[in-house]
Amino acid sequence: MNALEEPQAPAFVTRLHGSGGSLRGWVVVDSLVDGLAMGGTRMTAGVSEEEVAGLARDMTDKFTLAGLRIGGAKAGIVAGGTDREETFRTFGRTVKPLLHGGIHLGIDMGVTPADRAVFFAEAGYDPRFRLGAPDMPIDWRTYYEPLIDATGHGVGVAAVTALEARGHQGPARVVIQGFGAVGRAVARFLEARGHIVVGVADVQGTISADRLPVAALVAATDTFGHIERSGLPQGVTLSEGADAWLDVDADLLVLAAQKHALTAENAHRLRAGVVVEGANLASNGAAKEKAAGAGVTLVPGVIANIGGAASAALAVTRVVPFGLEAGARKAWVFDWVGDRVRQNTMDLLEIAAGRAGDPLPELLAARRAERR
Ligand SMILES: NC(=O)c1ccc[n+]([C@@H]2O[C@H](COP(=O)([O-])OP(=O)(O)OC[C@H]3O[C@@H](n4cnc5c(N)ncnc54)[C@H](O)[C@@H]3O)[C@@H](O)[C@H]2O)c1
Repeated sequence: MNALEEPQAPAFVTRLHGSGGSLRGWVVVDSLVDGLAMGGTRMTAGVSEEEVAGLARDMTDKFTLAGLRIGGAKAGIVAGGTDREETFRTFGRTVKPLLHGGIHLGIDMGVTPADRAVFFAEAGYDPRFRLGAPDMPIDWRTYYEPLIDATGHGVGVAAVTALEARGHQGPARVVIQGFGAVGRAVARFLEARGHIVVGVADVQGTISADRLPVAALVAATDTFGHIERSGLPQGVTLSEGADAWLDVDADLLVLAAQKHALTAENAHRLRAGVVVEGANLASNGAAKEKAAGAGVTLVPGVIANIGGAASAALAVTRVVPFGLEAGARKAWVFDWVGDRVRQNTMDLLEIAAGRAGDPLPELLAARRAERR
């Protein structure tokens, strides 16, 4: 294998049929570092082994780029309309040996903190304790819940870094596709640094104005990222057309909604010079090529959106200074995420400036070599 080649096959794939109940799904452990791997659990009707494997590879890449000593994994459960609690109890019994063996499985699409509590309890798994590792002095929720905005923080750092690298001066006009946990945190981060949010989109359409008041928008949004139209300030423009967020004139576009938002079919409509992926796989390969061809700077999700995963991995690998009081501990994690995202963004853009083609494989190869 030469330095640029990625390892091909996952370390192992476990097919789930259920223990003491039936279940269909997979756990893909893409890579192990020091016997550890981690990733979220996704439950959708259409999830496939291929999708889980792709997401597990993404986790490997994120941790490699961030310099975290843990491998990438992902779990997928095919949603079957059976009793939710029973499903997660069965899941907990089935993946029990993996959880206790260093494969930490968290939350992803379709799985809530309450579901996680069910499968952790059924497996008798508490991430505070692991053979051979020091105990965490606080429980998982006390550590993790205050870090909800860590992903948005990192995405914001990537955006500011990319704007600076392009020589952008003064406030940038920003469009944010997706106003969920990530989109809202990015909006607050960028507004606090003097940038102007001119467009936001949720699944129902796009809201735009010369300047959108972020606090008022957040107040009109529910926890699922639905913006209540009746609560909006006067003078905003509403567009229901699909991808209308692409038509708002802006310097920066943040993709914080679903996968493949940017494709070969719509990339020619890009107006912003900088695109940052807050969502996983927010653009596909063809869209990235088109964007690069049009001179657009794109920061991929594996660099920008590591905040949530990195926060969890920092605890699982016991890198967090748990002795710090709550506020200082949160600041430490946010600074750690911001530093890694800034460095990776700068290094990626430097590689991109030096040659044609996707710069990510070269950066990954460099980080893999550093980790050895
Ligand atoms: N939350 C995290 O820490 C985190 C970490 C890494 C990646 N991600 C990914 O980032 C994305 C956003 O995460 P989140 O936690 O903010 O999700 P969320 O469910 O809280 O919010 C999603 C937002 O996207 C909007 N949306 C969905 N489909 C859309 C469409 N077709 N057009 C426009 N808007 C659409 C929704 O209305 C909502 O505002 C997801 O893909 C998620 O998997 C999240």
